[in-house]
Amino acid sequence: MTRKIVVNADVGKGKINKNIYGHFAEHLGRCIYEGFWVGEDSDIPNTKGIRNDVVEALKNINIPILRWPGGCFADEYHWKDGVGPREDRKRMVNTHWGGVIENNHFGTHEFYQLCELLETEPYINGNVGSGTVQEMSEWVEYMTFDGESPMANWRREHGKEEPWALKYFGVGNENWGCGGNMRPQYYADLYRRFQTYVRDYGDNKIFRIAGGANVDDYNWTEVLMREAAPFMDGLSLHYYVHPGGFWNKGPATGFTEDVWDITMEKTVHIEELIEKHSTIMDKYDPEKRIAMIIDEWGAWYDVEPGTNPGFLYQQNTIRDALVAGVSLNIFNEHNDRVQMANIAQTINVIQSMILTDKEKMILTPTYHVFEMYKVHQDAERLDLSVESGSIKVGDKEIPQVSASASKAKDGAVTITLCNLHKAEASDLSVDLRGLAFENVSGRIITAEEMDAHNTFEQPDNVKPVEFDQFQVTDNELTLTLPSKSVLSLTIK
Ligand code: AHR
Repeated sequence: MTRKIVVNADVGKGKINKNIYGHFAEHLGRCIYEGFWVGEDSDIPNTKGIRNDVVEALKNINIPILRWPGGCFADEYHWKDGVGPREDRKRMVNTHWGGVIENNHFGTHEFYQLCELLETEPYINGNVGSGTVQEMSEWVEYMTFDGESPMANWRREHGKEEPWALKYFGVGNENWGCGGNMRPQYYADLYRRFQTYVRDYGDNKIFRIAGGANVDDYNWTEVLMREAAPFMDGLSLHYYVHPGGFWNKGPATGFTEDVWDITMEKTVHIEELIEKHSTIMDKYDPEKRIAMIIDEWGAWYDVEPGTNPGFLYQQNTIRDALVAGVSLNIFNEHNDRVQMANIAQTINVIQSMILTDKEKMILTPTYHVFEMYKVHQDAERLDLSVESGSIKVGDKEIPQVSASASKAKDGAVTITLCNLHKAEASDLSVDLRGLAFENVSGRIITAEEMDAHNTFEQPDNVKPVEFDQFQVTDNELTLTLPSKSVLSLTIK
């Protein structure tokens, strides 16, 4: 049976904030150290200690924003330990992530250097859990104050004359858990207090992000919005897909067909979370001034056998390409409230873009989806309806096809489509209304095996290829979307 998708190319639904295509990098496992940072003396080609191959690959997906230094690490990070001559920096234990020594060689200056190389906006997460108001306030002063002050002078002593720009600042992370095990009333008060001293110096206007709920903790959102809405610009939400649950997540490869289905069902679940948290936000903020910031999301599995359990290193398969494609489509479709999302985490940790092994580097299927979707960044979302058919997963039904469409400034329309089925193709007709076009092109990422992935020996096993298996009649495209696939169509 042919399913129908209607795209109303003349009905705009607002801009898709490019920050929905954001990323997250924590001091965890081999994300910062080995992933980004190898040090200036490394044999691996680098610019001021940052890997050139990684920067080049990430620039190709236009990373709009990068969140750092955590995660749980943020609430035990003391920024002053990470500035000044590297050989003098304090060493500490990274208690959350493997109990390894953190030598603080990658600190504020190195993070800004990375953002400059990537041409990306920094998003810094401050420490509420084990830090002080003074420490947070001084960090902002150190980074952004232009005049004469103890922190600005200290920055200059460390070689940075002019202040940096800083827009996005998170006031704590997961303060219901690793960030202090707080109750929402208590955190709401702490948030109000800490954010007061996150100052706007000169022209630098900070967008303050409050630590939001875990998954479906709607009471957290209710309390934060009721008690602190006027003091925040964004409220975060964290959601990870663990097919077997948090304590028994299941492997990244070698999983069963049932687990594929469960992964897809847990992926689409984020739509319900967005809608329910948004409903609460609407009650206190009907104008939608406060952004929903999904600053941690992704598929989180058991670590690869033989690797440090605290390092969260996992493989990345065509299943992850679907998790990424479907989630990004959902975020696009909720662009009225979702203004940022940061996949966890960029390199070597959880659902990464890149895996490294010493000097070697591979791109994951998730990376390729971000590359295929980058045209949605800051494009106008288009009205669309999908009659997709469904897949039964236990007692639930999920859509077989996920889609999103946008129009770029140059008028090109992009439709991204995912077939969530592990085995069945989907016949589709795409009705393009309100659009005159001459040319259609496509790129698809798909695979035969459910756990097809790239390895250091076979780095191009899963990657996008050209797709021209469609017919065009008047304003209608007909095509067969293979099982386990993400397709991007460009219509000009
Ligand atoms: O991304 C890994 C961890 O998951 C983060 O540090 C934390 O915020 C979340 O629980």
